[in-house]
Amino acid sequence: MVKPLWVQGQVLRSNGGHQYRRQDRIGRKIFRAALAPRPVVMNLARFPRLHWGHLPTPLELLQNLSRELGGPSIWIKRDDCTGMSTGGNKTRKLEFLLAQAHVQGADVVLTQGATQSNHARQTAAFAARLGIACHILLEDRTGIGERNYQHNGNVLLDRLHGAAIERYPGGTDMEAALTAAAERFQAEGKNAYLIPGGGSNATGALGYVNAAFELVGQANDRDLRIDQVIHATGSTGTQAGLVTGLSGIRSDIPVLGISVRAEKAQQEENVFRLACTTAEKLGAAGAVSRDDVTANSDYVGEGYGIPAPSTLEAIDLLARLEGILLDPVYSGKGMAGLIDLVRKGEFEQDQNIVFLHTGGAAGLFGYTSFLGA
Ligand SMILES: Cc1ncc(COP(=O)(O)O)c(C=O)c1O
Repeated sequence: MVKPLWVQGQVLRSNGGHQYRRQDRIGRKIFRAALAPRPVVMNLARFPRLHWGHLPTPLELLQNLSRELGGPSIWIKRDDCTGMSTGGNKTRKLEFLLAQAHVQGADVVLTQGATQSNHARQTAAFAARLGIACHILLEDRTGIGERNYQHNGNVLLDRLHGAAIERYPGGTDMEAALTAAAERFQAEGKNAYLIPGGGSNATGALGYVNAAFELVGQANDRDLRIDQVIHATGSTGTQAGLVTGLSGIRSDIPVLGISVRAEKAQQEENVFRLACTTAEKLGAAGAVSRDDVTANSDYVGEGYGIPAPSTLEAIDLLARLEGILLDPVYSGKGMAGLIDLVRKGEFEQDQNIVFLHTGGAAGLFGYTSFLGA
């Protein structure tokens, strides 16, 4: 049983025997010195990895957007520039996942996602480079029937990478369909490697543990005090990995996931569960506490894959002010959340907020009718 510790009369967070008040620098220093927990060692080199990502990705100040919004300094971590079929957050996850597939001697990789899945596109690219077959199950999750949505954007790139595509109606249990497809391949004597939707298991999340270390290193190099990281969260691997890495090294940098689908409580629970599994995999069980995980689901709009007016405004602003492309399903909603929170005065002028750009711009070409094209 951990005894509560009081700093100026208030406990804000508890982290497995490591409690502190975030805002109180002096109090925190005293507390840390008195009760420094045993350091957690997270050795990613123990896991097989394909070093194919263009890493580290740049960390840049969004001067024009910061000025336009008149709030905190907004920085961007350019994980849209990770390489592998236009880049995006899946590169970091697939470096670990496809390395494991390779070690296991897989000759076909299977995964699933929505029609305009970025994860499917990047999985297809990794499989192509590895010289193994790729089989993708796509769910019609949005009901958008337009030709560009069905065949352009990510779908076009899936095909260019040589992936085979199977289509499923919306509402299908896609993880069950994935298992059934893998069994079919195994019955044919194939060695199938199965990746869950979004590449979100403990192996994939290692990629974002690594991203957490990378970001903290960049911040240290330039004396940048990061007050919050904000990004789009869906299948949870990105946030789970980030939180595991950032909490594991006691960075004291909070992460806010802007949900693109699930409601807040469900999303937080899902992220927390995967973060715990990821920490265990790293031999750091208990490194993440429940209150390290925060999600906001106010920017989902009508549903997954349907851009809200705020999504389209965010895409427009970033394209016009910064020359940066967001996407209609993930990063557009994540940035819409950040913009709205700035406008609501949630941050101080002297704060530094980092938007993790998780990619997805290939999907723009599936959404031309929403973008006035
Ligand atoms: C562009 C983009 N951003 C963010 C996400 C969300 O990341 P995660 O699924 O790890 O929560 C995805 C997931 O597919 C994505 O494709």
